[in-house]
Amino acid sequence: MSTVIVSQDELLRYNSLVSKLKNRIAEMGIEAGHTLVYHVKTYGCQLNESDSEKIEGILRDIGLSEASEDQDPDFLILNTCTIRENADVRLFGNLGAYKPMKKQNRNMFIAVCGCMMKQPENVERIKKSFPYVDACFGPSDIHLLPEILDKKLSQRKRVFSVSEEDYLVDDNDMPVERKRKFRALVPIMYGCNNFCTYCVVPYTRGRERSRSSEQILKQLSDLANEGFKEVMLLGQNVNSYGNDKEGEISFAQLLEETAKIPGFSRIRFMTSHPKDISPEVIYTMKKYPNIERHLHLPMQSGSSTVLKRMNRHYDQEQYLKTALLFRKELPDATLTTDIIVGFPGETEEDFQATLDVVEKCRFDSAFTFQYSRRPGTKAASYEDQIPQDVVTERFGRLLALQNDLTFKSNESVVGKTEEILIEGKSATAPDILTGRTNSNRLVNFKIPKGTLYKGKAIDAESPDFDADQFEGLLAMVKILKAKPYSVEGELESFIDE
Ligand code: 5AD
Ligand code: SF4
Repeated sequence: MSTVIVSQDELLRYNSLVSKLKNRIAEMGIEAGHTLVYHVKTYGCQLNESDSEKIEGILRDIGLSEASEDQDPDFLILNTCTIRENADVRLFGNLGAYKPMKKQNRNMFIAVCGCMMKQPENVERIKKSFPYVDACFGPSDIHLLPEILDKKLSQRKRVFSVSEEDYLVDDNDMPVERKRKFRALVPIMYGCNNFCTYCVVPYTRGRERSRSSEQILKQLSDLANEGFKEVMLLGQNVNSYGNDKEGEISFAQLLEETAKIPGFSRIRFMTSHPKDISPEVIYTMKKYPNIERHLHLPMQSGSSTVLKRMNRHYDQEQYLKTALLFRKELPDATLTTDIIVGFPGETEEDFQATLDVVEKCRFDSAFTFQYSRRPGTKAASYEDQIPQDVVTERFGRLLALQNDLTFKSNESVVGKTEEILIEGKSATAPDILTGRTNSNRLVNFKIPKGTLYKGKAIDAESPDFDADQFEGLLAMVKILKAKPYSVEGELESFIDE
């Protein structure tokens, strides 16, 4: 595998292919008697979501529109994840459902992309058992999608094109269809060099490659000018940003430069690695109130022995030092984590160490996972795999402890009035809105009858009430009640209208 920089000049090829495809798609639309539509289904993490926004950008560029919920797409792209085994199982389980769709619409195009495609056995399985899938491509091949579509549409052959190379594309010149009008996902680097022994990511997303800070900052100020209130800086390991580039600024500096751009109310970043996070990142967070008061710091295990076997390059003491520095410097902020239960060789004593650290850090919430044996990773060959019943029992104990801590954390904000960035209507009821605090707490809240918005009184219970019009607005909300995974509140006032 090697890193290949895709320059602006090479992207000119993209433009010429796009014009060719546009004509082809227009012709196909006339033959079909309707405007051709696409659907991109995304599995997995925010990097995949960001990749899907780029895929959608390309599909729109060639003249496709997004399919509505009740419409069968003419172009279907499945962007896969392979972090745990159940992600693979879900994809293969779902693929079968598209066969009848393709039978009905013989010109339908189905492609599978994303991390699963970097495992040759998955591509082979699709080749053999899913003949109605037209194309496969890898997570670093998105800029090649026009070529893949052109090949398929002109030669009518299936295209299997998963590159060995790790591409670094001049992103600023590629189209992006942003799914939320207030939130911009901005990858700052791709890949991972860490080879934690349980993780497939270094095999699927290749080596670390940072985008230039000049380009990132230009893109960010454009986004701020376009009115995005929230930006999410993305990378598998944002704290090693720039290490692959001589003379590049550090992540703490990039964060500071981002915070200085006028316009963003919420700057988020994901994911931090405990071995690389510098105290400067914490001090920068403290200095700039527009950086979210939230740190996601995956711990994975509280046992130094397990951490060593995981190849994490930090021990319990170092993790605690960072976590407690964060708690001391930003006492109102939230700290969240990822934990794996049942890593090979994990003893009851190791597991107790995890519970201990969880209590000491008082995580505001945690993503807890049962260890999943991933083919090709070092830990998959470890002999001391833990029996499922032991994993299940430990997982239950961890979940009970964390649920208690999450609820207590939610209780700690009851009675406070917090600034919320509104995300839209809640999943609970049509008259309830949902949003997040600056510490990334999920808040479902009511708008009291008669509240003024743009000079008019709001009635959230009326059938014409349109919750989506508030998406992206900032508001002050009084928190009234803690729930297990969220809090409930009532709007006090809109900050911007
Ligand atoms: N099994 C269980 N959890 C895993 N993760 C990564 N690989 C595995 C695996 N093989 C979890 C880690 C990581 C998160 C994104 O997924 O906790 O931080
Ligand atoms: Fe996987 Fe570790 Fe890289 Fe995260 S840092 S993507 S867990 S190898």
